[in-house]
Amino acid sequence: MYCSKVAATILTVAASVLPACHAQAPAGTPYTDPETNTTFTTWEIPGPLGLTFGLALPDSARQVDATDFTGYLKCNTAIGWCGISLGGAMTDSLLLVAYADPNSKLETENAVAISPRYTSTYSLPAPYTGNLSITPLSAHVDESTKSFETIFTCASCLHWSQNGTEGRAKTSSGMLDLAWAISPEKPVIDSTGDLRIVQHEKEGTWVAQV
Ligand code: HEM
Ligand SMILES: *[C@@H]1O[C@H](CO)[C@@H](O)[C@H](O)[C@H]1NC(C)=O
Ligand SMILES: *[C@@H]1O[C@H](CO)[C@@H](O)[C@H](O)[C@H]1NC(C)=O
Ligand SMILES: *[C@@H]1O[C@H](CO)[C@@H](O)[C@H](O)[C@H]1NC(C)=O
Repeated sequence: MYCSKVAATILTVAASVLPACHAQAPAGTPYTDPETNTTFTTWEIPGPLGLTFGLALPDSARQVDATDFTGYLKCNTAIGWCGISLGGAMTDSLLLVAYADPNSKLETENAVAISPRYTSTYSLPAPYTGNLSITPLSAHVDESTKSFETIFTCASCLHWSQNGTEGRAKTSSGMLDLAWAISPEKPVIDSTGDLRIVQHEKEGTWVAQV
């Protein structure tokens, strides 16, 4: 979406004149999750097909580039998917795609799956082949509000390497380029066990002050 890219580039001067882009203020809003007692800095894209992303970073993140974080992700779609780019663009960045797990059994009905992905082109991102570890801490699927949310630790997620391309989110700079995307379409697990999704209906970028 052209509008979103422009908003990201000139966010500091133009945020207030581009309301249709839902440009995010860099300074997020604190949110403490009652279940895990974790406090996140959160950024919200409001409305249906919006989302909220939260980051909890190690105390040293402003001194030394962090590699790990605890994340909060609430996606305003019941059966679709939403994703975050930790590099601020769809391409050449580590992407985290979350969805209410269609394979979930009764006892894990609240399962939210997170699939790390990567792509160099504007097409279905491939599974990320680099080294990272995602551990879910909590998950809820809420049919009444048509949303799902998850809290997870993401170790080695703030630097990435795939197919000879490397990148990182420099927390020591105090500002991260992030991006989001969301689709109301249900992901499908194909015969090889991999995730198939269709292109997002909404997407955008923002600068996050950490
Ligand atoms: C089948 C899957 C996907 C397809 C076909 C697709 C396709 C595209 C296309 C064509 C654009 C350019 C749109 C424009 O400039 O007008 C785009 C932009 C974007 N996509 Fe995707 N996408 C897919 C999955 C994803 C995923 C999983 C994420 C994030 C987790 C994502 C994040 C973004 C973002 C943030 C942008 C705008 C910023 C940028 O241009 O890098 N996309 N996508
Ligand atoms: C929640 O975390 C805060 C800050 O780390 C701590 O001071 C507080 O005691 C914790 N509360 C509970 C109920 O664990
Ligand atoms: C890796 O790079 C090659 C050539 O640049 C490209 O054709 C291929 O799609 C890439 N694979 C992934 C998983 O990004
Ligand atoms: C791989 O990631 C784990 C955390 O998930 C980290 O402890 C380990 O050092 C990493 N290994 C390499 C080779 O980077």
